[in-house]
Amino acid sequence: SHGRVVVVGSLNVDSTSYVEAFPAPGQTILSHGFRVALGGKGSNQAVAAHVVGASVELVARIGTDAAGDFALATLERFGLSTGAVGREADAPTGVAQITVADSGENTIIVTGGANLALTPAAAEADSGRIASAAVVLTQGELPVATIQRVAELAADAGVRFVLNLAPPAPVDAATLRFADPLVVNEHEARAVGLGTDAAGASLDAWRELAASAVARTARSIVVTLGSAGAVAASADGSWTAAAPRVDAVDTTGAGDGFTGALAAFLAEGRPLDEALRFAVAAGALAVQSRGTVDSYAPRHAVLSSAGLTDAQDPA
Ligand code: RIB
Ligand code: NA
Repeated sequence: SHGRVVVVGSLNVDSTSYVEAFPAPGQTILSHGFRVALGGKGSNQAVAAHVVGASVELVARIGTDAAGDFALATLERFGLSTGAVGREADAPTGVAQITVADSGENTIIVTGGANLALTPAAAEADSGRIASAAVVLTQGELPVATIQRVAELAADAGVRFVLNLAPPAPVDAATLRFADPLVVNEHEARAVGLGTDAAGASLDAWRELAASAVARTARSIVVTLGSAGAVAASADGSWTAAAPRVDAVDTTGAGDGFTGALAAFLAEGRPLDEALRFAVAAGALAVQSRGTVDSYAPRHAVLSSAGLTDAQDPA
């Protein structure tokens, strides 16, 4: 059965400049392209889960400004429900200033704005939505107290809690321990004390690190390793999934494409190792075109790239 993914997360409007190379301090440079689009790790992951077939509810906060109107219109264009996206009269919609270099790398500055109004009390007001989810997903762009409260609400309801700690946030150990999985990239892994002595970025080295840390850190761990792929570990085992070789055009939001797809597959009851392969394929497809939400590939494309098929319903 396909359970619902409830994303309690950030929503930003992204202003992205495409440049040959990043400017140095004090330097003025000319871009060769610019776009404004829906972003924010929460909103990106909600769209990513939706486009691969999950039933998704996004709990978020935006302003009453034009950026907020644009965000709602974009969510509606994708067919997402906006019933839990609240509007704050006193705060602007969150914004991200993004620079993408021709190398495919990016830098991002986020100004939280209305996202900061997603307080623990606001999350509690949506505890009914959280309790009815198959998977609750959140990220590091919300206030730390809110992330922790969402974990508690999920724990109370016996709902699977997926935590993408991006950017790294100082959440307490109980929140980390409940994460199933904790999803981090290499830098975020180091921020939670994982992988400090990892030599290089080999998938096998990281799989072993995750396997040795999982019992004391989280219910399960996923580490994303960019163009190399990703690894996962739980009490049941540990796995690697190599990424296909692709030409990266824009890596912005590829981690969100990965995490949204992972949560969607887990909400269907698929095992972590299959969800890992599915998510790696989704991330690799997302880097091949510009932007975040507009670059997420539909379910059939992700399945075929991952070499997976739809599970047969029992007769
Ligand atoms: O992960 C990419 C996202 O990070 C962007 O959409 C930006 O809004 C920031 O939240
Ligand atoms: Na992209």
